[in-house]
Amino acid sequence: QQEPLIAPSILSADFARLGEEVDNVLNSGADIVHFDVMDNHYVPNLTIGPPICKALRDHGVTAPIDVHLMVKPVDRIIPDFAEAGASYITFHPEASEHVHRSLQLIQHHGCKSGLVFNPATPLDYLRHVIDEIDMVLIMSVNPGFGGQAFIPEALNKLREARKIIDDSGRDIRLEVDGGVKAENIGEVAAAGADTFVAGSAIFGKDDYAKVISEMRSEIAS
Ligand code: DX5
Ligand code: ZN
Repeated sequence: QQEPLIAPSILSADFARLGEEVDNVLNSGADIVHFDVMDNHYVPNLTIGPPICKALRDHGVTAPIDVHLMVKPVDRIIPDFAEAGASYITFHPEASEHVHRSLQLIQHHGCKSGLVFNPATPLDYLRHVIDEIDMVLIMSVNPGFGGQAFIPEALNKLREARKIIDDSGRDIRLEVDGGVKAENIGEVAAAGADTFVAGSAIFGKDDYAKVISEMRSEIAS
C-alpha cells in the first residue's frame, strides 16, 4: 500500500476565490487537488472544465490535479484536460463506449488513468483493463453532489478492489470519494484506500490544517 494522499475536492471550495482556496488547502497539508467535472448529462449537476484547470496551473498550482470526469461522452474532453495540466484523469466506465480505448487515450496524452466505480457498479471491468490503469476510484456516494452521507457498503468494495490491485502487483492507487471525514477515514483506510477525497469535511471547516492533520492521524492509527 502506498503513502496516504489527502485530496480535497474543490467542489466544496469558494469558487469566487478558487486560486486562494487551493493555495490554502495545499499549504495546510493537502497532497493533491480533486477536480470534479460534471456535465448536467451523466450527472444532474454542472461544474467546471479545462479552462479552470488551466487557470489553476497559470495561478501557480504545482500539486497533482486529479480530474474526476462525470461526463458522457468521455473521449473528446480528454485531450483538453491533458493540455490544461491534468495529472490524473478518471472516468466512469458506463459513460464510455470503449473503456479500454479511453484509458489508452488518457495515457497517450501523458496523464495517469483511472476508472471510477459507482455504488452499484461491479468491479468486473477492472480485471480486464488492469494493465491500463494507474488509479481505481471507489464512489462512496452517488456522483453529482458534495455533502452526501458515506454509503457503508463501499468498505466491502474497497476491500475487494485492494485485493485485485495487490494481486496484480501493479503500482495502482486506490481512491475513495464521497462522505469521507475525520470520523470515518480510519475505517476507510483500514479497508484499503490510500487516496482520500474530502470536500465538505475540509472546505466546510475554518481551519483546513487542523482537519487535514486530524485525518492523517486517524489514517495512521
Ligand atoms: C461527488 C464528487 C465528490 C464530492 C465529494 O460526485 O465526486 O468528489 O465533491 O464531496 P464530499 O466529500 O462532501 O462528499
Ligand atoms: Zn469526485
